[in-house]
Amino acid sequence: MAKWKIAVIPGDGVGPEIIREGLKVLDVVCKVTDFSYEKVDYDFSGERYLRTKELISDTDFSELRQMDAIYLGSVGHPEVKTGILEKGVLLRLRFELDQYINLRPIKLYPGVWTPIKDKGPEHIDFTVVRENTEGLYVGIGGFFKKGTPDEVATQEMINTRKGVERCVRFAFEYAKKRNREKKLTLVDKSNVLTYAHDLWQRVFHEVGSEYADIKKDHAHVDAMCMWMVKNPEWFDVAVVCNMFGDIITDLGAMIQGGMGVAASGNINPQGVSMFEPIHGSAPKYTGKNVINPLATISAAQMMLDHLGEQKGSELIEEAIIKVLSSGKLKDLSAKSGVSTSEVGDLIVASIMESA
Ligand code: IPM
Ligand code: MN
Repeated sequence: MAKWKIAVIPGDGVGPEIIREGLKVLDVVCKVTDFSYEKVDYDFSGERYLRTKELISDTDFSELRQMDAIYLGSVGHPEVKTGILEKGVLLRLRFELDQYINLRPIKLYPGVWTPIKDKGPEHIDFTVVRENTEGLYVGIGGFFKKGTPDEVATQEMINTRKGVERCVRFAFEYAKKRNREKKLTLVDKSNVLTYAHDLWQRVFHEVGSEYADIKKDHAHVDAMCMWMVKNPEWFDVAVVCNMFGDIITDLGAMIQGGMGVAASGNINPQGVSMFEPIHGSAPKYTGKNVINPLATISAAQMMLDHLGEQKGSELIEEAIIKVLSSGKLKDLSAKSGVSTSEVGDLIVASIMESA
């Protein structure tokens, strides 16, 4: 029986509440399948930063490298200056653990409302493979003559051959494994970023020549925003640079029913991966037990899938689908009238029923 070592980072705001529900679900899945896990808690958060000025230490990193996975709630604190926790916790984990893929499924489950007229679950089911350690996120740049009328600010977009290639290759492999339409769409802005995204184009076609059975498709990122609303059924897997991936996956979250359901995996195929909801810490709802934990529960499902616990992963997804189709949740927002812990209970009950 596998015993996984999982680092748990509840984080800030509603993080601890949603992680509690995710763990409740994991615990029941353990009981009805045949694996167990050891939980190691880490309190990286704005709260701790305000108290101690500490973010993540080198010792923390050497421990984290020994884990099988990381389960993260949300990071962000209204009293901490913007950028400190984003860069010092979330992006630092992604970069130092070389989680070079951000996997973001955009899947509309039955019974979930989408703002897109005349589209249903059969039209909205694709995955975005977002590059996660390069691009505009590397933090290279600076100011010149800051605060003067002659100020200059630069922020470099870094694209390495190695970084682009490993991401594109992952996306082709993913499209092959997913075995749906076997189609991969490269999303870029190669009509303007004629150096950076020329590299993406060349790599996409070179690597693509090794995948004769995968259809190759292309969309400029602005057009992608249009097609995701107008014809989401065109997409199977899309591969995209870090910044554009950040933007289009918020749009994706909206068409799949909102931040209440959107989950993601920060993947290092050779190392430690981290799973999280894509929403933030929602400070104004902290401690109110109203935030929908389904995105975090979905992240647990992605984590089990990644660990090879297929049965457990399927049980969670089936339960999510059942609960969403049951009509018990009027909507997925904080105003659904069903509390955070009640949603967790519904998922647990559904897993128990089908196990
Ligand atoms: C996300 C978030 C992060 C990002 C922020 C919080 C740094 O928006 O996970 O999409 O930009 O990647
Ligand atoms: Mn984002």
